[in-house]
Amino acid sequence: MSAAAPAPLSHQLYRLLRDWIQRGELGAGRRLPSSRRLARALSLGRNTVLAATERLAAEGLVESRPGAGLFVATLPTVTAPPPASAPLTPHFSRRGKALVERCATLSEHYQAFAPGVPGLDLFPHAQWQRLLRRHYRQTDEALLAYQTGGGLPALKAALCDYLTLSRAVRCRPQQIVITQGAQQAFELIAQLLTDQGDSVWMEEPGYGGAQTAFLGAGLALTPVPVDEYGMNSALRPPGSPSPALIYVTPSHQYPSGATMPVPRRLMLLEQAEAHGAWVIEDDYDSEFRYDIAPAPSLQGLSTTARVLYLGTFSKVLYPGLRLGYLVLPEAMADTFRLAQARLQREGHYPLQAALAEFITRGDFARHIARMRKQYRRRQARLREALAPAVAAGLVLSSGHAGMHLVAELQSVDEEIRLIEQARLARVTLSPLSRYYLGAPRRAGLVLGYAGATEEELSRAGHWLATAWLALGQQRS
Ligand SMILES: Cc1ncc(COP(=O)(O)O)c(C=O)c1O
Repeated sequence: MSAAAPAPLSHQLYRLLRDWIQRGELGAGRRLPSSRRLARALSLGRNTVLAATERLAAEGLVESRPGAGLFVATLPTVTAPPPASAPLTPHFSRRGKALVERCATLSEHYQAFAPGVPGLDLFPHAQWQRLLRRHYRQTDEALLAYQTGGGLPALKAALCDYLTLSRAVRCRPQQIVITQGAQQAFELIAQLLTDQGDSVWMEEPGYGGAQTAFLGAGLALTPVPVDEYGMNSALRPPGSPSPALIYVTPSHQYPSGATMPVPRRLMLLEQAEAHGAWVIEDDYDSEFRYDIAPAPSLQGLSTTARVLYLGTFSKVLYPGLRLGYLVLPEAMADTFRLAQARLQREGHYPLQAALAEFITRGDFARHIARMRKQYRRRQARLREALAPAVAAGLVLSSGHAGMHLVAELQSVDEEIRLIEQARLARVTLSPLSRYYLGAPRRAGLVLGYAGATEEELSRAGHWLATAWLALGQQRS
């Protein structure tokens, strides 16, 4: 970051006078010299002095007496804080404790292998900045007020075209609600469609963000095991309650990478119907498919409108954008829109307008095509670096789609040992066991490759191959 520029002179003078007043060096009732005298004495412009004293007056530190000048105001006496006693022990609710436990596993560093992080180094920053600048300059005054439209119409229209064409989603713009990413969409769904204690079927292993949001809403999470075709409801715990929600990532199961074939999709829809449950289809990264055709969305297959389709720009653009969307059954959309306006508020319209233009003029599609190519190369570089381990038996997931690979390990104990070594080598490793709600059935590592350069992946991949091979020698 560049060094901060010095504060303007008026601000410096304001701070000086404010400190003197707060420390009592300029006591209550003292008259300030006139602005002319102060300006002369300090060799400052009179406007500079006026700007400082006007701010002091606006904050109630000095008061003006007509015809007499400015006087230091009588400030309330601030009693000194009690001497430090025992440090405050935060007392979290039961729900809070369960959430805090999940948050503790979040990585604060984004190095090679951090899952879910896109290639920020390849983002067209200059082009995006130009668009943003233009849209922030043109803000329509009406959009500065509270809105209840569920997002900017232009963005909803652009998204609708994109989803219809590329994802076989059936939608009209009025079915879309723009959210601050998938995370906010989960919260909104839980608030509107469930009551405390309702059951939600979750993929096991599955996405931590959805687990946390539903735990936060007081739902009972039912882990439903995932096999090579995604969530397998036949394997759910015996006697598990009827779900109010079924959360799935059918296009590219997170984190296993499985794609749910159409027959299983249809079966899931039938089950949802039988239970009267809503299906949440999280289509977080289906843009990145390398050598397989995209599967039709569950939402597009459904004839009963039981599916809430959601997507995010966190993977295709960048997570800090905080923009995602929900495609709702027609009959629900107005209620969601109004509830969002009450619960979460909407906003950031210039950002939404910039994104709408980015999509309509084709930049979005070009960016996706470019990233697809680059991610394919990054994945290939990682596979190359891991090749010695693969030749010795390390099993990697197919990598047909997405932004990470899963490397299988024999036990959670192996995960722990590799992670400890990785920490010292400054490599981020995410254990597969962390994605389980219950006891992990499989052990492994989730290796994000999209957010790191080919050189970084090569270095981290070689490190991992060597560490894994060494572990094998200890094993045998
Ligand atoms: C399965 C899944 N859904 C959604 C998201 C995106 O969440 P958000 O839009 O809140 O950034 C991610 C990001 O890692 C994800 O892995």
